[in-house]
Order: sequence, then structure tokens, then C-alpha cells
Amino acid sequence: MSAFPEGFQWGGGVAANQFEGAWQADGRGPSQSDIKRFVPDADPLSIDTTATVEAIRAALTDTEGLYPKRWGIDFFHTYEQDIALFAEIGMTAFRTSISWSRIFPRGDEEEPNEAGLAFYDRVFATLRAHGIAPVVTLSHYEMPLHLVLENDGWSDRRVLEMWERYCRVVIGRYADAVDSWIAFNQINSALLDPFIALGLPTREGDQRQQQWDGIYHQWLANAAAVKIGRELAPSARHGSMILDVSVVPRTTAPEDSLAQMLYLQQSMSFSDVMVRGRVPGVVRRYLRESGLTLPEQPGDAELLRENTIDFLAVSYYSSEVVSAGASMFDAEGWEPAAASARNELLERTDWGWQIDPVGLRIALNRYWDRYQVPLMIAENGIGARDELLPDGTIEDDYRIDFLRRHVEQVREAIADGVEVLGYHPWSPIDIISSGTSEMKKRYGLIHVDQDDDGSGPGTRRIKASGHWYRRVTASGGESLD
Ligand code: BG6
Repeated sequence: MSAFPEGFQWGGGVAANQFEGAWQADGRGPSQSDIKRFVPDADPLSIDTTATVEAIRAALTDTEGLYPKRWGIDFFHTYEQDIALFAEIGMTAFRTSISWSRIFPRGDEEEPNEAGLAFYDRVFATLRAHGIAPVVTLSHYEMPLHLVLENDGWSDRRVLEMWERYCRVVIGRYADAVDSWIAFNQINSALLDPFIALGLPTREGDQRQQQWDGIYHQWLANAAAVKIGRELAPSARHGSMILDVSVVPRTTAPEDSLAQMLYLQQSMSFSDVMVRGRVPGVVRRYLRESGLTLPEQPGDAELLRENTIDFLAVSYYSSEVVSAGASMFDAEGWEPAAASARNELLERTDWGWQIDPVGLRIALNRYWDRYQVPLMIAENGIGARDELLPDGTIEDDYRIDFLRRHVEQVREAIADGVEVLGYHPWSPIDIISSGTSEMKKRYGLIHVDQDDDGSGPGTRRIKASGHWYRRVTASGGESLD
């Protein structure tokens, strides 16, 4: 008997804002990702998570800076060639996202942009023609920029109405094409980067109340998407996603263990809402003690309770160390839970992320024990500097090693009894990095000959890791060599 269940999806994951490019094609409107600038030589561990209204407006007319997400890898024009390569490396599923502002350029229109819809018709049809099942995220770090500037993003409840219109249009349109829907990418990253995740511009003073308003509205939006999905696409799976933040205590001191417990509870409070349908005590206590509230209205509790997700998608890259006092609810930006504490037993990537394959097995078991709903590994991968050799090959053995060791732990988790629907390495092809907007931090199994500033021929070449992946998927995960 195979270690991986029948129908297990061997996929690959990307996000529209990091690879489609063509940011103004066919009437698309801008999103908050389009104004994230690439800063040469920036400290990779210190990501700028701020954006004032003035800075956003200035970026839109800036002709000097580099905004690589605007061009991505030009998948908008190369999708046929790229999807053929996805099939060649053996993918049976592909996780991508829909750019909301391609469909509703400002967000508040009554009618969708037909040209934007037609693009995804073409993409999904091409995937299906290659036997690749689309797994589609509705919101991956982008919303129409108009809603960021005029509504302060998700902090305004009126955005929900526009979101529901968007969901009705796209879920209805692609009901027969899409295998699984993920409403929000890493919904708990709203705690770490309110601008990118919630579209909340940075202003003077304490913005935590607006941030929690936005978080709460996204919880409602998740439930609304599930409700619409069950109505319009009853044969698809309807799920959502969190960023896994596996943390271990820094010492054996009970206070460090308590910090670990709280950090995990805080992180999983987002999946608690989506799987269990109610706001957990850890959130209520924090808000009460911080003088914050949730903008609850009559009917909300029923919406959350009655529209819980079918499956939970998680991203997993690394584990972190926490010590007494660490709190995800008070985290600032993407700094590790306790920036000073490293796990000296683990290697780190070129960008300083700890490599902890066993942590993936632990995380999968933790979610399964807590929820008993199927899980999907929506992202897992290593950002590294790759070298294109003179003979045109890319020998990324470090990536093969990373992926192999993680897939082994997925296999272990399945043997433990965890239900896992699929594995999506981030990413099947090189794309623009999310946090730092750079190209040289490469995750792909397929190389794209392009530099940070967008120069280069853009030629695609399958890396050694892509050839490895084809062997893995062809053997149904039996051969990981
Ligand atoms: C995840 C995001 O947090 O991490 C992706 O969902 C992102 O969009 C990935 O690309 C890796 O992060 P980065 O900053 O290295 O691209």
C-alpha cells in the first residue's frame, strides 16, 4: 500500500501578485502589492511592513523605484508555456490566486471586468487540459488599492459587501473548473503585516483597534466565502489557510513553555474561528485586557458557526524559538518570535530561516489532533540563491534535500493517521519574493532567467529539483531519491 493516499495532490503554489505581472493589462486596477518596492541590499530579516497613504500615492506615480510585482514573471503572457512545464515536472494540482483587482479594478463596481475573468478562463482551461487541478486562493495579499485608500482596507465593514460580490462572480464562473477554494492566504498574517494582509495604511498612533476590526471582518469574509461556495460550487472543497508558526520554548523554564502554549493558541485562534466557528477565549482575554473590542453585530455568530471550512491549508517554512513574554498578538512585523533566540541545533537558509523538517510532522499532528479536518500543505520551500551554470543546468541539491526531508515528514504524519490532501511546494517556478520583492531569493523548481530589476530574457529551465519532483510524483511519493 502506498504511503500517500489515493488522489493525493502533488502540486505547487504561487500567488497572482508575485508572478502574473501585467499589472495594468485589460483594465486591471492596482493592489497594495503593486506598491511594494524592491530595496537593493536591504536587510532580508527586516521587512518594511509600513505604508502611509502619502507613500502609497507617491509610489503610484514613482518612475525611479523598482516595483517587481508589477511585472512578476509575466505569467499573464507565458501561462501556456509555464503550465506545460508544470505538467512536465509531474504536478497534478496547482495552487494560484485570483487578483481581485483584475475582476473589480476599484472594488466597488457593480459589474465585473470581463477581460479579467477571461484570463482565468484561459488559465484554468489550460491547467485542466494538462490534467492539473486548480486550487484557488481568493485573497493572497492583494485587494483593490482604491479600497485601501478610501476604506482603510478590511477595517471597514462595507468592504464585506464588495468581497461577497467578488466571491459570487468568481466562484460562480469557475465552479466547474476549480477543485478547491482557499478563501484567505495565511489569514493570521494580519497580526504581522496589517498593510499587506488587511490593506490597512499606516498612520500615526496605535492602530490595533483598526487592525482587530480588519481581522474580525476577514473572519466574517471567510465564512461568507464558504457560504457562497457551498451554494454555487457544491462539488468543490471550501477551505482557508493559516501561516504555521511552530515555536519551541527557549529553555525548560515553565514560563518559556507557557509562552509556547500562548503563542500557538494565539496563532491557531484564527483556525479555531474558521474550523470551530467561534471566537476562542485567548482572543477575548487579550482584547479585554488591551481595551480593544470586536465589532460584532447581530447575525455574525450564526454566520461563523454555520459556515466552517471543509479543510485547513497551512504554510510551513521553519520553526522559531520563544521565551517568556513572547506574544503573537503583540508581534511587530515578521521578526521571529524572540529575535535574539536561535535554535543552534538547526541550519538556516541564506535568508536566515531555520530549517526544521520534523517540525512539519509535529505541526500536522497538532492541527489534526485539534480539528480532525483534512489538511493541505499549501506552501513549503526554501528561498536560495541559485546559479545558472554555463551548460544551462541549475544544480539545486540543497532544494532537493529540503523538499525531500519535508516530504518524508509528511509521509510520517500520514502514517500517524493525519489526513493530508496534498503537498504544494512553494513554488513550482521562480517568482518575486513576497516580503522583499526580490527575484534572487528563488524558490522555484523551474528557473526563470530574470534579475531583480526585471532584466534578462526570462527563459525557463527545469532545475535539478524539478527533475527530482517529476520522479517523486510519478512514483506517487514512493521514490524520494
Ligand atoms: C508566505 C506567503 O508567507 O511566504 C508567500 O504566503 C511568500 O506569498 C512565502 O512568497 C515566502 O516568503 P518570501 O518573502 O520569501 O517570498
